[in-house]
Amino acid sequence: MRNILVTGGAGFIGSAFVRHMVARYPNYNIVCFDKLTYAGNIDNLLSVSDEANYRFERGDVATRSAVSRVLRDYHIDTVVNFAAESHVDRSILDPDAFIHTDVVGVYILLDEGRKHGIERFCQVSTDEVYGDIEDGASLEGDRFLPNSPYAASKAAGELMARAYHVTYGMDAVITRGSNTYGPYQYPEKLVPFFTTEAIDDRPLPLYGDGRQIRDWLYVDDHARGVDCVLHFGAAGQAYNLAGENQRFNIDVTRRILDLLGKPQSLIRHVPDREGHDRRYAMSAEKARALGWRRDFDFDTGLEATVRWYQENEWWWRKIKTGEYLEYYQQQYAGRLAAQE
Ligand code: NAD
Ligand code: DAU
Repeated sequence: MRNILVTGGAGFIGSAFVRHMVARYPNYNIVCFDKLTYAGNIDNLLSVSDEANYRFERGDVATRSAVSRVLRDYHIDTVVNFAAESHVDRSILDPDAFIHTDVVGVYILLDEGRKHGIERFCQVSTDEVYGDIEDGASLEGDRFLPNSPYAASKAAGELMARAYHVTYGMDAVITRGSNTYGPYQYPEKLVPFFTTEAIDDRPLPLYGDGRQIRDWLYVDDHARGVDCVLHFGAAGQAYNLAGENQRFNIDVTRRILDLLGKPQSLIRHVPDREGHDRRYAMSAEKARALGWRRDFDFDTGLEATVRWYQENEWWWRKIKTGEYLEYYQQQYAGRLAAQE
């Protein structure tokens, strides 16, 4: 492993992974390849922009010629694919881009990777492929029951990686991360959305009764988990990267308000997300056996995260304009008007 292509490396988790890899492995060349969609942000990579072992290339993972060129020009031997449309609510409004990037994009990366003799391919996937888990914890061999267009697109992407392993002998590994939070997360997702809205004393639209359960993983722990699976995972295997920090959404929301010293009256129960999964939970046992452990418990991670958004308004205020406001209007205006 020497020349690593990190696709989607300008997003939330991808940029944490790039920052981690550039610092930890000065002998690797890290090439970030990113389309810079609404969610991609070059500000996330400012701290590494002058490092000798880091390069940035703008491009689309679903464009064969662009992928082929970057693989060839940088003599890439390893691909780590974070590139995705990643927001469930947007997939419900319009699944199109999800098929383009999360399905076709993964296929193009695998296919061009095979032609260029890639030695290892890591597909970053999600606990959402298992669907709603009433009780217990998902294991890697459990069946897939994805419920949103986003979850189905991620399941399709990782099944293609598996097929390239079985059919063509590609050395592919898969990570399935749980709900991730931390600095530099686009403020459409629960933690940064509610934190930045509450800072401005705006209403927090909590879907349904707020008693859905998510399993929270701090972003740096997720990045280290992908590093661990990339280096030590067995070809053809998937590994759950679970935070094992399960919380009700309502409790996460209340804690954010407490940390900010804001009133609980900002919470609004609004009509639920369509097809909303009630509970995700995975076992991290298999990844632990590779040597991965999360460092952050949820209370420590959430406190650090909320503080980061308080101290870094320069980062998120310029995002919450233009396209963001159009999306907000489409997703929340009706819901807030119809609040329960
Ligand atoms: P994000 O939306 O913050 O970032 C996605 C990045 O991919 C952006 O930089 C975007 O510009 C880029 N991108 C999108 N389409 C592209 C294309 N066609 N070509 C090249 N680049 C493209 O996402 P994230 O939250 O950082 O998630 C990263 C990965 O981790 C995704 O694959 C996601 O499914 C997975 N994941 C996320 C979470 C979570 O809680 N955020 C949990 C588990 C797994
Ligand atoms: O589980 C892993 C997944 O976690 C990743 O694969 C996805 O990329 C990531 O977006 C995340 O998906 P969720 O749908 O769980 O995350 P989100 O932050 O959108 O929502 C978290 C929970 O909070 C979910 O139950 C819906 C609820 N929610 C979310 C928003 C944005 C609300 O109640 N109100 C909101 O406005």
